[in-house]
Amino acid sequence: MDKIIVKGGHPLQGEVVVSGAKNAALPILASALLADGKSVYRNVPDLADVVTMLKVLETMGCGTARLTGRQKDVCEVAIEGPITPEAPYDLVKTMRASVLVLGPLVARFGRARVSMPGGCAIGARPIDQHLKGLKALGADITLTEGYVEARAKQLKGATVNFDVITVTGTENVMMAAVLAKGRTVLENCAREPEVEELARVLNKMGARIQGGGTSVITIDGVDALQPVDHAILPDRIEAGTLMVAAAITGGNVLVKHAQPEHLESVILKLRETGCTITAEEKGLRVKGPKVVNSVDVKTTEHPGFPTDMQAQLMGLMTVANGTSVISESIFENRFMHVPELHRMGADITIQGHTAVVKGVKKLSGAPVMATDLRASASLVLAGLRAEGKTEVARIYHLDRGYERLERKLRKLGADIRRVKA
Ligand code: EPU
Repeated sequence: MDKIIVKGGHPLQGEVVVSGAKNAALPILASALLADGKSVYRNVPDLADVVTMLKVLETMGCGTARLTGRQKDVCEVAIEGPITPEAPYDLVKTMRASVLVLGPLVARFGRARVSMPGGCAIGARPIDQHLKGLKALGADITLTEGYVEARAKQLKGATVNFDVITVTGTENVMMAAVLAKGRTVLENCAREPEVEELARVLNKMGARIQGGGTSVITIDGVDALQPVDHAILPDRIEAGTLMVAAAITGGNVLVKHAQPEHLESVILKLRETGCTITAEEKGLRVKGPKVVNSVDVKTTEHPGFPTDMQAQLMGLMTVANGTSVISESIFENRFMHVPELHRMGADITIQGHTAVVKGVKKLSGAPVMATDLRASASLVLAGLRAEGKTEVARIYHLDRGYERLERKLRKLGADIRRVKA
């Protein structure tokens, strides 16, 4: 298994380009199922999770391709023959976002058989709200042999009030509703920019969606959609991670393509830590502080502080001047980076869903293990600051969501390399 080796102490300098958003690419690729013909997606990040979603689509009978050379950010998904509306356990168990094919499949083919995703490292992560929405639209749902089976001759518009705000749940039900008969109103929706981006893509395909990116989404069903050509928005979490990299090393980095409107809560928090952040024409410039101030943060749904940035901010707080209280309100088990940060000298106490981080003068490099995607990022960030050598193992987690992070950081002057197994 590959490892990342990082030697800390180099303030990052220069410019870095943010890739396309993983969590927008995944539902958008699944939405290709909604139309016959070839859809073309640009700015698609080259990530393990994207490869998995393309595999899910291929297994069903879609043609998929990633172009090469100067067009290596382009993926094509073509539906030109029969589709087997089934997502097998082997793929869903490696990526729970595979469940995003459920809505499009039942809407378009009247039937879907998708392996039920299990829990994962960060929490139980049920999909009851996805199923509640599909049921409301008239799908008949059964659970057999670990698979969710959904059937509906024709979905019908309905009002769905989500009991829990869910990103992929909102996306799944929205993708089903675009081909339902009549009007669907989704209430208590996730407002993440990735949900808005999916609505934008669906509308380009011919859907009639209003309110994507707000808590109430209204969808007037249409008979058919057309394929689309779309460039995916930049990844706000990758941008935020690179911003913390500048902050934790006391560097000065232009994070190109970072979209300030998607990063408000992160920008505000990083400013409180002492960073200077300015919007420039090409992105956000982050100058890290000499002394990092401690800040408190609670993760909440967008536009609140994202759970996907909690581990990275905690990495920064390990070296802050003072004590920081970090509360995680989205996932029940998202502090797996804490024991690993302890190995680097961090002083963190967990009390339920809250971590109390007492800033230490210095971190020291150590062998550590990645446990999930964002946890891995926080360990790399801590390694950029630590004295000596940090070896991050199990970085297949990192590769699920960051496109060649070590190369981007090396270009900024970090002493970091990947060691192949
Ligand atoms: N939940 C339910 N029932 C449901 C759905 C969700 O109880 O039917 C609960 C979850 O267990 C969780 C909360 O609702 O406690 C929010 O989960 P949500 O459904 O919003 O998460 P998700 O859609 O599975 C997406 C991202 C995650 C990100 C979360 C929260 C994708 C592919 N994944 O997951 O991204 O953390 O939203 O913002 O969009 C990551 O990129 O590292 C990552 C984990």
